[in-house]
Amino acid sequence: MSDLDIEGLGEDFPLLEGIRTARAIRRLRADPVPEALIRKVCEAGTFAPSGGNRQPWIFVAVTEADRRAWIAERYRARFRQYIVPTLERAEADPSVPEAKIRNMRAALHLADHFHEAPVHLFVAGWTRRGETQSQALFPAIQNVLLACRAVGLGASLTTVHLADGAEIDAYLGLSPATPSCALLPIGWPEGKHGRPPRASVDEKLFFESVPEGAIEARR
Ligand SMILES: Cc1cc2nc3c(=O)[nH]c(=O)nc-3n(C[C@H](O)[C@H](O)[C@H](O)COP(=O)(O)O)c2cc1C
Repeated sequence: MSDLDIEGLGEDFPLLEGIRTARAIRRLRADPVPEALIRKVCEAGTFAPSGGNRQPWIFVAVTEADRRAWIAERYRARFRQYIVPTLERAEADPSVPEAKIRNMRAALHLADHFHEAPVHLFVAGWTRRGETQSQALFPAIQNVLLACRAVGLGASLTTVHLADGAEIDAYLGLSPATPSCALLPIGWPEGKHGRPPRASVDEKLFFESVPEGAIEARR
């Protein structure tokens, strides 16, 4: 991996194809990701729009194994609490689509292997008038996810760590004025990127106004 052309990597990747195929990659190899490449995907984050161009984002990349283990322990416990009963119910219910169950299993796999993800990238940001500015951070987060797609890294968006947010933020050196908002486990993918299952845009798009009952009918 050391002979990677980091400057050139992903530069000619087609944007719309990247958007369509940036699915959640939750099976990651343990191989390290060069710091320069972490910097590159975070730089994409910094080109996001923000209110008043305040650019409230802060990125904290955790790569040391013992620090990732500490974070993973908390993530795994919280996620299992939530997903295991949900997955068991879904598996027992024949009306639940297989794709949904696969998605939950992949999420559980990520939780169980969280410590192996070579980069735990936290996106944090300045509060404004005492409020977390999540809406100002999600465009930056999506840019990072798309940049990962372009350079061939696997990534996904997670927020479960927020249940232990204060403790984890303190561990990261973040004060209550700059809480974390998301945690992106990043690494080289075991599988391939590809189109995620999505309803057709024709079910979601209306011109001018929404006919009565149309949203309900398209659900
Ligand atoms: C705000 C937000 C928070 C999320 N938090 C988590 C999370 O904590 N853990 C997780 O496994 N997936 C989480 N997800 C869901 C996945 O990241 C992913 O978007 C979803 O499973 C769809 O995957 P796909 O794009 O491969 O279809 C979250 C998604 C959003 C939008």
